This record gives sequence, C-alpha cells and structure tokens, in this order.
Amino acid sequence: MTPTKIGILGTGDVGRTLGSGFASRGHDVKMGARDARNEKAQKWAKDTGARASAGTFADAAKFGEVIVLATLWTGTKSALDMAGPDNLAGKVVIDATNPLDFSQGMPPRLALGHTDSGGEQVQRWLPKARVVKCFNIVGNAHMIDPKFPGGPPDMWIAGNDEAAKKTVGEVLRSFGWPDPLDAGGIEGARLLEPMCILWVLHGARTGTWGHAFKLLRK
Ligand SMILES: NC(=O)c1ccc[n+]([C@@H]2O[C@H](COP(=O)([O-])OP(=O)(O)OC[C@H]3O[C@@H](n4cnc5c(N)ncnc54)[C@H](OP(=O)(O)O)[C@@H]3O)[C@@H](O)[C@H]2O)c1
Repeated sequence: MTPTKIGILGTGDVGRTLGSGFASRGHDVKMGARDARNEKAQKWAKDTGARASAGTFADAAKFGEVIVLATLWTGTKSALDMAGPDNLAGKVVIDATNPLDFSQGMPPRLALGHTDSGGEQVQRWLPKARVVKCFNIVGNAHMIDPKFPGGPPDMWIAGNDEAAKKTVGEVLRSFGWPDPLDAGGIEGARLLEPMCILWVLHGARTGTWGHAFKLLRK
C-alpha cells in the first residue's frame, strides 16, 4: 500500500497495535483520544517514533486519509461525534469494533446483533464514509504478522464500497495476511461480530489466546 496518512480513533490495545503496524510500514499515523494529552497515546507516539503523533479524535479524523476505528463499543458513537462525521466523509474507515455487552459476565453477549450489527450502525453514523469491517475476529496480538504453525489465518471483511475493500486488502497483505475473505456488504458484519464471541469463548474455556480462524479449501 502506498504510504499515506492514517488516523487511529482509539488508544487501547487495538489502536496501539494497528498504529504501530502502519508506522512500521512507512505510513504517518496520528492517534486520537478524548483528550489530546491522553497518556497512552502520548507514550505510544514517543515509543513509535517520528512517524507517530497524538491528538484528539478530531485531530486524527482530519489527519487520516485512511481511518481505523478502535473504540469501546459503548463509547463509539460519542467518539465519532467528537471525531466529526464530516471529517470522515469519503474516507475508508476500518471498523475493528465489536458491539460487546459484558453486563452478564463472560463470554460477552452482542449488544446489537443478528438482524443488525455494529458495522451497520457505524455506517449509519457515518453515512458519507466507506466503512469496512475488519480485524474484529482476532485478538490484537495476532493482527500484525500473524504467525501460526498452519500458516497465516484468514480475515473476513465486509463493506459496501468495493474500492474501500480493495484498500483494506492491501493493508492486510502488508500486515502479513492473505487476501481477505469477502462477506459482502456491511450487513456481513452480522456474521463477523458473533465470530468475536466464539473467539473469546474458546479463549475463556481453554485459557489460551493463541488461536485464529482459517478457512480450509480443497
Ligand atoms: N482487544 C482486542 O484484542 C480486540 C480484538 C478485536 C476487536 N476488538 C474491539 O476493538 C475495539 C477496541 O478495543 P481495545 O481493547 O483496543 O480498546 P477499548 O478499551 O475497548 O477502547 C479504548 C478506546 O475507547 C475510547 N472510549 C472509551 N469510552 C469512551 C467514551 N465514553 N466516549 C468516547 N470514547 C471512549 C477510549 O478513549 P480514550 O482514549 O479517550 O480513553 C479509547 O480510545 C473494541 O470495540 C473491541 O471490542 C478488540
């Protein structure tokens, strides 16, 4: 993928992991938070080097030509309001969120699902953006250069804009993934978000977190 500017909305494990991945591939990356002085984002920028910077959600949204959405589900609408939907108009928004409800313990339930999805909700909140669901089906430790004995896992994506999905495919290949599996329009997120629950359930039951999905073919 040609070097570009990346805006990361989120300072958690996913935002920091993907932010570092993009910077390591030669992209300039700005991480956004509610507060421009956010300590995690400041430390991440310092540790990541010259290509990394930190600011508010709006700063990252304005800066990025490609955007990563990596916020806690319950804060996502608020984060996007702060980012400014107009700052995201026309841009590829890689939606890594999962609409999780932890109120009844582990594994979490879907706060929204089966006849709707977080991906569709994000696309409704950002009607002019080109939202692509991606990275939600695997733990952050495996997002960059995933290494497994059986070869790299598969990533499913979903989104309405074919060119945006092509861009996300380029991102995935640059991060060591094979060509993504396409689950169709953004409503495909209805299938991908439950996969997160399955991924977490397996981890919680086995106490291991070194797993990822792969489609076998013959
Ligand atoms: N952790 C994983 O391995 C993993 C894997 C796949 C998908 N996901 C999904 O990716 C997303 C990010 O996960 P994460 O573990 O990296 O981080 P997280 O702890 O779920 O989210 C952190 C981000 O959410 C923002 N946030 C929290 N409450 C907010 C509010 N009320 N208003 C606005 N923003 C708010 C925080 O803002 P501040 O920076 O201002 O504090 C921070 O940037 C989640 O939806 C998660 O389900 C996680």
